[in-house]
Amino acid sequence: FAFTPANQEWAEAQITKFPEGRQASAIIPLLWRAQEQEGWLSRPAIEYVADMLGMAHIRALEVATFYFMFQLQPVGKVAHVQICGTTSCMICGAEDLISVCREKIADRPHEISADGKFSWEEVECLGACTNAPMIQIGKDFYEDLTSEKLGWILDELSAGRVPTPGPQNGRYAAEPLGGPT
Ligand code: FES
Repeated sequence: FAFTPANQEWAEAQITKFPEGRQASAIIPLLWRAQEQEGWLSRPAIEYVADMLGMAHIRALEVATFYFMFQLQPVGKVAHVQICGTTSCMICGAEDLISVCREKIADRPHEISADGKFSWEEVECLGACTNAPMIQIGKDFYEDLTSEKLGWILDELSAGRVPTPGPQNGRYAAEPLGGPT
């Protein structure tokens, strides 16, 4: 693994934001950029970032394994669906959303769909409990979901279209959102 020239330049600029001897503080943005570049965070990528920051590889690995925003195995090329399964979402239908993922993506979490486009996993609270049940795809939250709506979102993504993120029952939308209501 190596950063692209543009990402290398960006990473070096991040490191200069921290005082001498505190370069390790830049680890999360650098790991995130490595993941954006590759789609997931491979062991060589984690070690590359550790070397840039003068950290022991094991310390960088500790950070990468602590946060579920880091994917330590390959994910679907179009989307990795993270379903919140914590209390509010569980009560409001997270299990139904998981069933949709099992049907449309793969039976087991982290398994990649046959077409290579999708993968999924259950995660802990994503901080949008008031709009439960919800999922995260990349940097986007899709909230106030139903099974039908999640199925539609996956179909749209598969077709190369990105549905408008946010609450899917239209509670904040300036104009009607697409898909089933
Ligand atoms: Fe699902 Fe908090 S419980 S976002």
